[in-house]
Amino acid sequence: MPKSALITGANRGLGLEVVRQLSQQGFHVFAAARRREAGEKAVVVLRESGAKVSVVELDVAQETSIRAAAQTVARQIAHLDVLVNNAAILDEESRSVFATEAATMREVLATNTIGPLLVAQALLPLLKKCPAGRIINVSSTAGSLNEMGTYAPAYSISKAALNAVTRQLASALKGQGIAVNSVCPGWVRTDMGGRHAPRSLAKGAETIVWLATAAPQNLTGQFLRDRKVIPW
Ligand SMILES: NC(=O)c1ccc[n+]([C@@H]2O[C@H](COP(=O)([O-])OP(=O)(O)OC[C@H]3O[C@@H](n4cnc5c(N)ncnc54)[C@H](OP(=O)(O)O)[C@@H]3O)[C@@H](O)[C@H]2O)c1
Repeated sequence: MPKSALITGANRGLGLEVVRQLSQQGFHVFAAARRREAGEKAVVVLRESGAKVSVVELDVAQETSIRAAAQTVARQIAHLDVLVNNAAILDEESRSVFATEAATMREVLATNTIGPLLVAQALLPLLKKCPAGRIINVSSTAGSLNEMGTYAPAYSISKAALNAVTRQLASALKGQGIAVNSVCPGWVRTDMGGRHAPRSLAKGAETIVWLATAAPQNLTGQFLRDRKVIPW
């Protein structure tokens, strides 16, 4: 049976690139997108080249959507090998922390922090059925407490909190065969990263895919960039 993976925010950017790379490696990939049509459109070319990709509607900021998506996936596979929590939003990069409104904080935390936690909770029964599960939370060095400055306050705070979600999940799953890590993809040319970013999609996805496929299973509870553990 092929390995399986679910990637959130899979209709464009890094998420779609991870779908491409994992499907090339023979995975049955669930490309989760908050709008089904956008997901279906994004994977047309991959399917034409023989990739096994199923599109799942999943808005990570909506609990009902998360539950429904998990049920849809559970009807199709007996176990899930990999979850990549990739979907995220970026607030205005230059907004001052003093001007960051509660509504912005709530929206960004709901998508970037609470969403990944709830998606992991919903898919845990399927991940536990596989002998060596992997959860990868796509974070950012913007969320690094060591390096934090004034850049994009809501986004940076949400990614610091996502790293805490990684630590909590990794600790709670210790000894249960499921590795949980955070990864920074670097500054990548996507809608979020902009066209002047130095990294290609392929390079940005590299460590995410390595964590999904080849990293040692006992590597867990860490924050990585370019396959190396970096400070929180
Ligand atoms: N690009 C960089 O330089 C960079 C650097 C560090 C970290 N990252 C991280 O890498 C990941 C991917 O970023 P990217 O650059 O590929 O961003 P992107 O091009 O802006 O794509 C973001 C993806 O997330 C989806 N998304 C947003 N809100 C969602 C929701 N509520 N439910 C489901 N999907 C949702 C978007 O879907 P829609 O099309 O429906 O909006 C889109 O598919 C993010 O976690 C980001 O923080 C990126």
